[in-house]
Amino acid sequence: MRLFKRVLSLVITAAMAAGLASCSASPSSVTSDTSQTGATEKLLESTGHETSGSSAKESISRFGKAVVVYFSCTGNTKDVANKIASAANCKTYEIVPSKPYSTEDLNYKNRKSRASKEQNDASSRPEISVDIAGWESYDTVFIGYPIWFGKAPKILYTFVESHDFQGKKVIPFCTSGSSGIGSSATDLASLAKDSGKWINGTRFSATVKAKDITEWLNALVEAGEI
Ligand SMILES: Cc1cc2nc3c(=O)[nH]c(=O)nc-3n(C[C@H](O)[C@H](O)[C@H](O)COP(=O)(O)O)c2cc1C
Repeated sequence: MRLFKRVLSLVITAAMAAGLASCSASPSSVTSDTSQTGATEKLLESTGHETSGSSAKESISRFGKAVVVYFSCTGNTKDVANKIASAANCKTYEIVPSKPYSTEDLNYKNRKSRASKEQNDASSRPEISVDIAGWESYDTVFIGYPIWFGKAPKILYTFVESHDFQGKKVIPFCTSGSSGIGSSATDLASLAKDSGKWINGTRFSATVKAKDITEWLNALVEAGEI
């Protein structure tokens, strides 16, 4: 009986050792992971900041407290915004117009469509329905929009002019059919009257992959841009 107990104890010890070995193997494989989760951990690893439980979505990451602000009518910018939020481990805030845009409103071939008229009117500032909560608390703001006739939609002007960017890092991004970001982001920085640190903007295709977003973020961090 004593011998049986000893053998059993040896078997259990061996099993526990094997279990521990397999647990400790997983963290080292995280950094080479190109999935969103692995990449986020890589970004956080470099600063020693950790995410935990439900607070992970709004944790202090490499960028301080960050938020992805975006405007999107047909979902492309929204998709990119969500990928950035996943990679940067932060929340999103959607700029929602008080008056939604219909398909006809967005008809860029019609010079009299709402979008055409707004973009041609220097004073146009479409109203935003609900303001972002806790704006003062954010250190880093990703700000995204679709390109409309080479520029940011005028509702971005409404947002920028009605918020103080002092002390914030701002990372503009856009989606488009084919145009580059052009002067759209520097126009927004000028509207902010140079408050905040605005870095050069980036144009993404609607189908950009999560791993490319993560590489972009890592490159910005490594270049000391954010
Ligand atoms: C009114 C309007 C104007 C546009 N102007 C341009 C443009 O100048 N260049 C371009 O490449 N795409 C242009 N597009 C295409 C959008 O930029 C593109 O489809 C974008 O990804 C849409 O983003 P969203 O789905 O987040 O609204 C325009 C679209 C609209 C509705």
